[in-house]
Amino acid sequence: MRRVVNAGIPCALIVAAASLSALSDPLPPDTTYRPLPARPFSAVKADDEAQKPRVMARQRALLEERYDLSDRAMPGTMMSGGIKPVQDGVRVKLAKDQTWQGLAEMSPGEIRDRNLLPIGLLPLPHVKQATGGQVFPEEEIREIGRQEGRDLRRFDVDFDLPDHLTPEFPSPIFLTTHPELGDVSRGELLTIRNYYEIMNGIITPVQMEGLRLLLTPFPQEEFNQTEDRKVAAQSLGVTCLDCHANFNTNAAFHLTPDVRPQAARFRLDTTSLRGLFNQQIHGSKRSLRSVEDFTEFEQRTAYFNGDHVSATRKGVHLPDRTNQVAMMAQMQNIIDFPPAPKLDPFGRLDPALASGQELAGERVFMGKGRCAQCHVPQTSFMDNNMHDLKLERFYKPGQTFNDMVELPDGPIKTFTLRGIKDTPPYLHDGRLMTLADTVEFFNLVLGTKLTQDEKNDLVAYMLAL
Ligand code: HEC
Ligand code: HEC
Repeated sequence: MRRVVNAGIPCALIVAAASLSALSDPLPPDTTYRPLPARPFSAVKADDEAQKPRVMARQRALLEERYDLSDRAMPGTMMSGGIKPVQDGVRVKLAKDQTWQGLAEMSPGEIRDRNLLPIGLLPLPHVKQATGGQVFPEEEIREIGRQEGRDLRRFDVDFDLPDHLTPEFPSPIFLTTHPELGDVSRGELLTIRNYYEIMNGIITPVQMEGLRLLLTPFPQEEFNQTEDRKVAAQSLGVTCLDCHANFNTNAAFHLTPDVRPQAARFRLDTTSLRGLFNQQIHGSKRSLRSVEDFTEFEQRTAYFNGDHVSATRKGVHLPDRTNQVAMMAQMQNIIDFPPAPKLDPFGRLDPALASGQELAGERVFMGKGRCAQCHVPQTSFMDNNMHDLKLERFYKPGQTFNDMVELPDGPIKTFTLRGIKDTPPYLHDGRLMTLADTVEFFNLVLGTKLTQDEKNDLVAYMLAL
């Protein structure tokens, strides 16, 4: 370890670096720049394929140790498109004899010193941390293959979460310009093949051109023509909406471009693009100040792990600010949240429409739970700020899981809670599977000591947002 990343952590990073050798590319783990490939594509591919069963088994073991991944739908509660049920219950596993109530009664220091924090609350590693890169869920791979004949499948890894823990596919699409139309997706996944027919007559020419660009594949670190790609056939690349499927998310993930070394980079769960019109800062860490900036830099750098040097060799697309970026941004800015008929214009529940439990949940949200201090109802349940939740008060940073070092998250953007039932898994890295998990997480982090009834009420309330 040549650079000190975090006082007190370097030893752990050395350990992580050493353990990288077992299941990794031949990449030195602590360099800033990605080296040029040193071995033939066929040899790297053969090695990757041979390692894949072990890589996947290792991740499955990690997930099963952390979570109850079973398919337990909440009776009668569907996501906004009405095709996928919302999953029920707390899924982070507790140690034997532990209870959430018991944990919440202890001080952060006591939980840390006695090593009692459930590991499912810790940052979640990428399926193959040492390599990283974009990983798409099976449903997306299949549908893009069917419609476009473009292959989003990597040969070194598969998506690691079961379908029932990911968002509805395809998700409905709501436009701010046409609330009266409701879902305009016609139940289709929007692609370069069908977007014109689906949107013709309901969006402007400028929005249509933006949409076309959002659906056009461009090279990306693992999906391109060069020999260090991770797809079998040379690839045209990926599109924005391969991840932001129908402008929501499909739970595709990659590694943050914003952190080095490799072992310290955190997993990034795709965010929904619904309601971007109200968001003032973009990215969990980057805090870019406009949709235009994020749109431009997503392709220029995030697609390439924040490595502009590697990008040039692979055929980076440098979108023109006036003629392309502005139109892509205009299209994104008309994507609405799903309807929340029980909310009034101030983001408060209408007592005539909401249930007693939802109203009780709102009282907890505004009061004892302190949620509204950051998730402000009037501004789409965000505050356009980043906050350091300081989870590391509860654990000793530096432990390594599947080649990722558990480091403090630092300040992260407050994500919106509008349409939150449609966007599992939760937090920037997707470490929490259900809304009930997020309630336990915040109850500990904020020290709010909620009762079981209050927790249930909060979940019921969030389902109404
Ligand atoms: C690998 C899947 C993937 C692809 C492809 C992708 N994104 Fe993203 N996008 C993400 C992830 C993950 C985030 C969250 C980033 C973070 O939290 O730092 C994100 C965040 C965003 C945001 C900011 C949302 C917010 O307010 O925080 C915008 C805007 C965005 N993407 C637009 C685009 C555009 C435009 C493209 C195409 C040029 C694109 N994305 C391609 C995964 C993807
Ligand atoms: C101090 C500010 C703050 C408070 C108070 C707060 N949150 Fe959050 N919330 C955040 C931040 C920051 C994130 C993003 C954290 C991350 O991704 O690591 C977040 C994320 C979430 C998410 C996941 C969003 C997503 O898209 O993945 C949910 C759900 C949530 N909060 C619910 C709550 C509830 C319920 C409460 C009250 C019990 C609460 N929050 C209190 C700041 C706060």
